Order: sequence, then structure tokens, then C-alpha cells
Amino acid sequence: MRVFQNVSDLGDLNLALKEAFEIKKDRFQFQHLGKNKTALLIFFNNSLRTRLSTQKAAMNLGMNVIVLDVNQGAWKLETERGVIMDSDKSEHLLEAIPVMGSYCDIIGVRSFATFESRKDDYEEKILNQFIKYSGKPVFFMESATVHPLQSFADLITIEEYKKTARPKVVLSWAPHPKALPQAVPNSFAQWMNAADVDFVITHPEGYELDPMFVGDAKVEYDQMKAFEGADFIYAKNWSCPGVTRPEDYGKVLSKDMSWTVDEAHMAVTNNAYFMHCLPVRRNMIVTDDVIESPQSLVIPEAANREISATVVLKRMLESL
Ligand code: CP
Repeated sequence: MRVFQNVSDLGDLNLALKEAFEIKKDRFQFQHLGKNKTALLIFFNNSLRTRLSTQKAAMNLGMNVIVLDVNQGAWKLETERGVIMDSDKSEHLLEAIPVMGSYCDIIGVRSFATFESRKDDYEEKILNQFIKYSGKPVFFMESATVHPLQSFADLITIEEYKKTARPKVVLSWAPHPKALPQAVPNSFAQWMNAADVDFVITHPEGYELDPMFVGDAKVEYDQMKAFEGADFIYAKNWSCPGVTRPEDYGKVLSKDMSWTVDEAHMAVTNNAYFMHCLPVRRNMIVTDDVIESPQSLVIPEAANREISATVVLKRMLESL
């Protein structure tokens, strides 16, 4: 595997899940694969889970790990070609990427949407330059449009906790004070569409996700109706994806607190589990009572990030 961006990059999803559960039984069994190999993890944005779980995954596989926070200690990077570099940006990404590639065997990159241009964000301008110029396998640690390591961990968690063969899984928009990217809901939709689940998306009007991620999923604008009979509630905020009104891309259109997931919402479900990728704003996205309830999976879900990253790095090491 040279690139990990989409669910299709894993091939057969059932085989990938089987591999994940094998690794969970003994996460050090492939230590030999990473001997004398180096993973470089590049962060343009903050992280707790992705940083720690991916480092741990690389160590599980016997790899060396280098972590670079681009905005803390590295030269400020220019990303646009043709710019006269007379500002505070001392280095161009076009030199920095191959240099970084020369120090490692596999590269992970986190680079969020900037909301400056929907076109640039949805064309994955930064990550595609790493794929093109690094000369190394690249895995996405949350890009402008996708967060596949998170969605793989989410799917592993659903597989572990489901009580029926084909559970009802609901992705619900919830309010947040700031504009957040669409990477997590986009990926979650993509992965749920590929999995054997009854998948429903609910959000206020204007928050329609890009059709390439929604696929054939059911979209229900009545949140309570969407929650009825659900086995898993996956809450997440996202800013306007700009599908129906491109001029609204990246805007906060609503802070409607009636969409906060509380006990009244959970009461209409099939005793659903609550999921969120974290970090989460309590009492905006979800109430204290719901996130602290026995049905909350946020901690095992985060723990599964180590497993999803171990599978992905293992597959990349095998293809070197
Ligand atoms: N869920 C997730 O990616 O968390 P971090 O932003 O802390 O890495």
C-alpha cells in the first residue's frame, strides 16, 4: 500500500478487520517488519490521539519514529508555486517534501482544511504534493477532506460492540462554537457506506456533505426521527461543506443546541452506544451524562486508533 487515504486503499474490508483483531491479540507480533525503518509523522495541526497512537503503532512494529510539528521549530513553509518569497515563509514545500522524504521510509501527514478555497481543500493540495514529491508511501493523519485512521478505528469499535449483524448507525451533526472541517464526517460516511450497516446521516439543512462521501446513505433532517431504533450514535460537528451554496463553505450556519446529544435523544434509540472521535466539547456536542454513561464508547474508540494505525503501517512496511 503506497497511499492510505480512502477505505478502498485497504482492499477487502473484512480481511482488514480480521487483521486488526489479530493485531489486537498481540500487537508486537510484527516487530521484525519495522527493523531499521523510520516513520516520519508531520503535523501542520495539533493532535493528541493521532500523534500518540501512530507513534505507538510504529513502535509496535519495531520502527524508529520522527515527529515534526511544522509550525513549532521548523521553517515556515510556502505552499504556493510562483509566489515571490519575500514574506516570513523561509522554505518552500517543494524542497521541504523531498528533503523530509530522504530521512524516512514512510510518511504520515496531518494538514487540515484551511477554508480559504473549497477547490484547494477538496483537491487535497497539500497531501497530494507529499504523494507526488516525497518518493515515499504516504498515509493521511487527517487531511483537508478525510480522516481514514479515525474511521478505521471507528469501524473496528462498531464491529466489537455490535449486537446485531447489521446495526443501525447514525452520524449526527451537533453544535460547536467554531468552524470545524468535514474530514471526520466525510470519512465516516465513506467507511460506513463500505461496511455492512444501516447508515443514516442527520444534520440541519445547509450542512449537506459532499455527495462523493454521502453515496447511497439515507439523509434525515429530523434528528429525533433519525435516532429512532439506532444502535450507534456517532456525533460530530462540521462546518458548512458548501455543497448547495459554495459561498457558505467553512461557515458556521447554526449553533442550535437542540441538536446536542442528551439523554432525551438517546432514549429513542435501541439503547445505542455513543461515539465521538474526540476531542469533544461537552454540553455542546454531548451532555456530561451521555458521554459518562456506560453506553459511551469514546475511550475504547480512541484506544482502537493504535490498532488501525498498526494495520496501516504494517501494510505499508510489507509493500516497501
Ligand atoms: N480524533 C483525533 O484525530 O484526535 P486528535 O486530533 O487529538 O489527533
